[in-house]
Amino acid sequence: MPLDYPADPFFAVTHAAPYDYYRRLAEGPPLRFDAALDCWLATGAAGVRAVLEHPACRVRPAGLAVPHNLAGTPCGAIFAELVRMNEGERHAVPKQVLAHALGQVDLARLQGRAMHLAGDRVPDSAAQLNDAMFELPLFAMADLLGFAPAQWPALAAWTRAFVACLSPLSNAEQLAGAQVAADALLQSFSRLLREGDARPGSLLAKVVAEADALGWRASGGVLANLVGLLSQTCDATAGLLGNAVVALRTQADLLPQLRAAPQLWPAMLRKVGRHDPAIHNTRRYTEEDVEFNGVRVPAGQMIVVVLASAGRAESGFGHGRHVCPGQAIAHAIATACLQAWADGLEDMPLAWSYLPSLNARIPVFGPGEMK
Ligand code: HEM
Repeated sequence: MPLDYPADPFFAVTHAAPYDYYRRLAEGPPLRFDAALDCWLATGAAGVRAVLEHPACRVRPAGLAVPHNLAGTPCGAIFAELVRMNEGERHAVPKQVLAHALGQVDLARLQGRAMHLAGDRVPDSAAQLNDAMFELPLFAMADLLGFAPAQWPALAAWTRAFVACLSPLSNAEQLAGAQVAADALLQSFSRLLREGDARPGSLLAKVVAEADALGWRASGGVLANLVGLLSQTCDATAGLLGNAVVALRTQADLLPQLRAAPQLWPAMLRKVGRHDPAIHNTRRYTEEDVEFNGVRVPAGQMIVVVLASAGRAESGFGHGRHVCPGQAIAHAIATACLQAWADGLEDMPLAWSYLPSLNARIPVFGPGEMK
């Protein structure tokens, strides 16, 4: 086995070539206790699905709705309301509202808008590509939500600062920046809501209308989940874009095929989502003793759900009640960006490694040898 073979699922996320490791994980038992990590691993399509479908496998540990270091802060106030971080009533209706509102988005129009925005910002260096991968999806979402173009750069910068509060790798300075950003994001959304200047037909207007229709009255919850739409877009869509750029660089026949048949872009991105996904794992916590095919996991345990070991049938967008409601939107935006950028990137010297993360695979590009 090579010396740098991934030691565990967290190392694998940013490893240059982790997929043999994930294949081996999938060949083992669907659920196992990892003594070194002191937690359970759910692997392979069967293990991943069983845990994500299980009602007693919750997104937060019992009694700890908000991590200790965020309690009583602006980040904590958002965290506490996010559909991603809740179960039961605080999840079901808000999730339905978001999924309905996102489902009404005119994807062809969004793709056209994103293509236009991305065409104005074709990266001409690795550094510009690194920024554009994050910014363009956030600009497209801010536009969709109803923010004016002058606000997009600040919203994108705050979103990138805010997501630091969701990573255990963030330092004190990043956490402090996340708090400032959380306040600024909440204020931006409340202003947009209060002033009623959300464009009619905007995603923000759709979320508010759906919330009214389904009786979701908690305005703080709506605000927090609007911020959540930006934060969920941020790292994951940057990862999809970056991993697609890597695919174009490592598979020489791809770009000529896509040029000859641009209608194949969405299929190419779906393939990237299965073969080199942006999100490699997620976590669940057992609320009570749970049994999977004879393996008993006691209450109060953490299970690392290794999405990237679920094999190529899975889409990279999760499964079960917390499945991603933004998949079609992410694909529309990513298709537009790649189509607008592919020609410009073709001859750019690029090398890459991965941003430090325990769950998201996001390339960071530098000037380097042509692959
Ligand atoms: C390529 C881009 C994306 C990927 C790979 C991705 C992946 C995921 C995954 C794996 C989950 C499930 C997490 C879990 O079960 O623990 C999730 C949840 C979620 N995603 Fe995405 N996502 C992407 C883009 C987006 C976008 C653009 C939006 C918003 C428009 C979005 C909104 C959400 C929301 C709100 C949730 C929480 C759903 C719930 O808890 O019920 N995502 N995403």
